[in-house]
Amino acid sequence: METWISIDKKLPLPMIRQLYSRIREAILSGRLQSGSRLPSSRDLAKNLQVSRNVVLEAYDLLYAEGFLDARRGAGTYVAEGAAFTCNRASTEPPSVEEVTMGYDCPGDIINFRAGTPNLSLFPKKLWLRLQREALLLPSEEMLAYGHPEGRRELREAICEYVVTQREVICHPEQIVITAGTTQAIGIACHLLLGERRDVILEDPITRDIQLIVKSHGGVLYPVAVDNEGMQTAHLPAALSPAFIYVTPSHQFPIGGTLPIQRRIELLNYAERTGAYLIEDDYDSEFRFDGPPLSSLHGLHPERVVYIGTFSKTLCPAIRIGYMVLPAPLISLGRNRKWQSDLHNEVTSQLTLARFIGEGYYLRHVGKMRKHYLQRRNDVVGALSEKFGAGVEVLGSATGLHLVAGFQDHHFPASVLEGIASAGARFYPVETHAIRFGRHTDKLLIGYGNLSREAIAAGIAVLAEYLKPGT
Ligand SMILES: Cc1ncc(COP(=O)(O)O)c(C=O)c1O
Repeated sequence: METWISIDKKLPLPMIRQLYSRIREAILSGRLQSGSRLPSSRDLAKNLQVSRNVVLEAYDLLYAEGFLDARRGAGTYVAEGAAFTCNRASTEPPSVEEVTMGYDCPGDIINFRAGTPNLSLFPKKLWLRLQREALLLPSEEMLAYGHPEGRRELREAICEYVVTQREVICHPEQIVITAGTTQAIGIACHLLLGERRDVILEDPITRDIQLIVKSHGGVLYPVAVDNEGMQTAHLPAALSPAFIYVTPSHQFPIGGTLPIQRRIELLNYAERTGAYLIEDDYDSEFRFDGPPLSSLHGLHPERVVYIGTFSKTLCPAIRIGYMVLPAPLISLGRNRKWQSDLHNEVTSQLTLARFIGEGYYLRHVGKMRKHYLQRRNDVVGALSEKFGAGVEVLGSATGLHLVAGFQDHHFPASVLEGIASAGARFYPVETHAIRFGRHTDKLLIGYGNLSREAIAAGIAVLAEYLKPGT
């Protein structure tokens, strides 16, 4: 009997699998050559002291995969052409170049990253109850494949919300549920980048958006922002852009709100150049000085693709956003969503539909607005206490972040690393710049997921580090 055919009954691996693997390995490596005869199942079973069925099943598997010739009765032979030597993957983890969004930070460092809401206030119990009820619905259809545009219940709830709260003009049929804004932007790029490749963006604008547009072959055309958002007077007259990407309610990151005159200028420009506008309305729910401002969409629904997200009002991990598409783009958008991931997960969609439809969403947003207002005040208070007239606060009327412009400081990586070593991680506005060098004195200060104590402690770290003479 061949000594290499052995099995270890103490191993957690089933004996059939062990035997199959040993023989397969021997055939692949050429140790058992084509035409060689294997022991009869009876002999091998006796030798290995296992039931004959174990051997028969291992042989059957090898037959099924073509390693053995199926000449039953006449013996068991190794088939032709089953030897194959290559460097098999080792069981060591491969070395992988880290893909990081750039916000990783050890837990003991206060992280002022922008855009994360207060995760401890996510309504877990209520969400769980609604999700449980969705899963226990008598119909099994929510476990089956669905439609790319998403559940009608959710599209209707979102439609009602954006029409009544954001002055969007739309019908549920225009809505496609997406995996957040991130996927919606990818879909928009796919739909709109054709012969036209130029994309006009605010400068600065979230780095992720720049990367997504570039990854779809778009060519970035930056238009600088000021405290009122995109400087529409600088829109390039000679360009035929594929689309113009704007955050009119709360420019990211500088924080301005686009006034009506600039909105009109933008819409006229889009009309003249035949370009679509993409309105990214990511956190306008948290406007502290009054109700949310109206959308750009409502002014010219045929020209604007409106994108919303639940990443800020609920939490980013649920990955639910939506796009409101003008009529000519609806089928294309649904098709693209289908081809990228079929559709969003269904029970979360049903849960969210009830969360909105039964009034919990508006209540939650109202509660969170008060919460973020207090945090915003804490940041502004701490900055003014520590830096006085040496700091200018920008874009603090809305959202989960603000920008602080410093009179006497710039923030190259070495300074930011020094501040992080002292206990607080801050992020420079320059990270989001398309043309560098204009915002080196500005920090983006996210307060959404920080306690009052952490805010006070973090700003104190910043002040101490920047203190003259240290
Ligand atoms: C400008 C902007 N839009 C949208 C988002 C939200 O992205 P998502 O909905 O994919 O979580 C972010 C995230 O920080 C953002 O900065």
